[in-house]
Amino acid sequence: MVRFLFLAAALLCQSSAFLPPNRRLSPATSLLVSELEKEVETVNPIKLEKSNGANGSTGQAYYNLKKGSKIPSTLRIEGRGIPNRNDPVQLLDSSTYESDLINSWDVYPERQRGFDWEVEKARRYFAGLRLREDGTWVKQPSFFDFLVSERRMSAMDGGSSPKPVNMWDAAILMTTNVVSQLGFAPALGMASIPTAVIQKYEGSFLSFIKGVLGGDLQTLAGGPLFLLLAKYYTDYGPIFNLSFGPKSFLVISDPVMARHILRETPPDQYCKGMLAEILEPIMGKGLIPADPATWKVRRRAIVPGFHKRWLNRMVTLFADRAEILSNDLVQRSKAGMVVDMEERFCSVTLDIIGKAVFNYDFGSVTKESPIVKAVYRVLREAEHRSSSFIPYWNLPYADQWMGGQVEFRKDMTMLDDILCDLINQAVMTRQEASIEELEERENEDDPSLLRFLVDMRGEDLSSMTLRDDLMTMLIAGHETTAAMLTWCLFELAQGDPGLLNEIQNEVRTVLKGKDRPDYEDIVAMKKLRYSLIEALRLYPEPPVLIRRARTEDTLPGGGAGVGDSIKLLRGTDIFISTWNLNRSPELWENPEKFDPTRWERGFQNAGVKGWDGYDPEKIRGLYPNEVASDFAFLPFGGGARKCVGDQFAMMEAVVTMSMVLKKHDFTFAIPPEEVGMQTGATIHTMNGLQMTVRTISEDEPLPKTDGYWTKQHLKRGLSTNGLPIAKEEDAETQEKKLNMELSIPMEIKNEDAN
Ligand code: HEM
Repeated sequence: MVRFLFLAAALLCQSSAFLPPNRRLSPATSLLVSELEKEVETVNPIKLEKSNGANGSTGQAYYNLKKGSKIPSTLRIEGRGIPNRNDPVQLLDSSTYESDLINSWDVYPERQRGFDWEVEKARRYFAGLRLREDGTWVKQPSFFDFLVSERRMSAMDGGSSPKPVNMWDAAILMTTNVVSQLGFAPALGMASIPTAVIQKYEGSFLSFIKGVLGGDLQTLAGGPLFLLLAKYYTDYGPIFNLSFGPKSFLVISDPVMARHILRETPPDQYCKGMLAEILEPIMGKGLIPADPATWKVRRRAIVPGFHKRWLNRMVTLFADRAEILSNDLVQRSKAGMVVDMEERFCSVTLDIIGKAVFNYDFGSVTKESPIVKAVYRVLREAEHRSSSFIPYWNLPYADQWMGGQVEFRKDMTMLDDILCDLINQAVMTRQEASIEELEERENEDDPSLLRFLVDMRGEDLSSMTLRDDLMTMLIAGHETTAAMLTWCLFELAQGDPGLLNEIQNEVRTVLKGKDRPDYEDIVAMKKLRYSLIEALRLYPEPPVLIRRARTEDTLPGGGAGVGDSIKLLRGTDIFISTWNLNRSPELWENPEKFDPTRWERGFQNAGVKGWDGYDPEKIRGLYPNEVASDFAFLPFGGGARKCVGDQFAMMEAVVTMSMVLKKHDFTFAIPPEEVGMQTGATIHTMNGLQMTVRTISEDEPLPKTDGYWTKQHLKRGLSTNGLPIAKEEDAETQEKKLNMELSIPMEIKNEDAN
């Protein structure tokens, strides 16, 4: 009874538990609580000792257990490691004020006494806060959840970083949108931006109802969203508002504005907004959806994992997996089977990412498994969510009664179990080392990124973000590369045979006498690299980048012709349409044509104010990137939040495609028009890339080339390498040079070069 009264009093005073633990008890109160203290004091006391977070930068704590702490046994439970996402007991988010508060008591056991400490213990007890064997605090479900502060430290630091957008911002934004759409924008000091209103539905009534009920933006828009944005781009130009009833998005298809948002503003000025809300149940606080504060810490931890030696080591892995695929294609071609190459590319990239990121063998090229099926169902759900305007997954108990959501919960549990097991196993065999030491380590048995991150000295292993980052990479790093391979093969197979012949010629010449490429070969296969990147230009993954303004901002006018007064309010949701950028006639010559030779020629347009154009001389590395194109082409994004896996993906794609093309010829099994297109986060085919495969025999001669590549430059009055003809050399001399080049077989040229 005494205990109950005390705890009730403690709860009433719970606000005092949020005060710093430096107040002392009066003698009377001491007497009152001493009885209870005796009861709750642990039989086998431990002391918690704080070690610094990752690189000393996180401010998050990882605890080592030692004798001496006064955490009572009532506040302890069994268990260790990272729990499953659906587990009712979850690790305490180390970036919250709550975690900081607990630390401030526990790091100094001498403070753990007196009345305030009693109140604090009672608060933890009722709030469901428990200490596990491995020294991490977890949160159990509790009726008194309000006793736990979920506020993030970053939101309270009072520093210069913008506060999260709130309801008030949303209300101001909505009102201003309505007022400016009524034509009062100039009166508000803003530029008049056209508004596209989605109101006309051209499909059947039944599919409209289905779209509304499913919250499916694509169904309502009557097709892939990016195609609708492309239509409005033609009607309204590089900046317009897209309105959906009271909700609106600012759609941007201009390189100067994209450069401003992605690179010229601090990384915390724009966040992922609605994308983060949608992806949170799948990727948690993983790098893609992460809020700026979490992102800063995680990005710093993850980037070193993609070091040069590791990437080189990965080339062997890519080749191992591509070989399995190639052998499988030999079997299928012998059996005269039609092969869905999109499915094959997805399988090989899934196997690669599983092994590279967490040393897990999905084995999906050779067998079907429930785990692989779960990965794909989760991917489809993520895509469906990202094109939905009603968050149907947030309906009460949706994961208990909504068919797809029940399945989604089960799939996520299965994947989470695997991830958590892998992380926990890696933690048990941890061998801490500095980044430099880790870069030197061979790790033959397990060269995975997970091993690197776990072994990294000071890495915060009590945090859920490691699991979230791995899940993010599993999802972000596999279908994107598969889509690049799929669309590249599609375009090569349906394009000018002269181009395909040149690519095959290049591949077979560079890989002559070799089973697999190394890094130098990847560099040497330039025509193949440019074909892959050209596929990403025509089919960008993802076709829109999503941002939300966290502060007011003014965009440069770029090609919009509205001056430099495009004012953005806090909370504005932005779509940067990479599809529109990549297919804009303002930014590319003949933009709809698959022409990998374009990457060797420059392109300028003074009409787009502030845009430097595309300059091939600015290419550094394996592919023409956002810098060479001054943000007209964002194959892997740009600025601080650029893809961490760009080199990985390019090398993986070149190795896979070269090994497949070296041994096989492909022809369409269905007319190319029937391949179709659909989208979510990546652009897929509608009906698969159904191909007939023919295995090329070892002694088959190289396909003849007619100089397709260089001819593209010459017919534009440029030199054979796409650069303007030097003054002293006229077009006639160039033409002669080309003819001479064509008379020399590729192999001999290559041997000469060596
Ligand atoms: C062809 C393949 C790929 C494409 C086209 C691609 C594309 C992109 C793009 C456009 C972004 C920027 C998104 C934004 O700004 O909102 C991004 C971010 C990201 N990608 Fe990739 N990606 C590919 C492969 C990979 C791979 C293989 C991995 C991992 C192994 C990966 C991991 C990530 C991560 C973690 C981010 C978030 C980076 C951050 O916010 O700091 N991606 N990717």
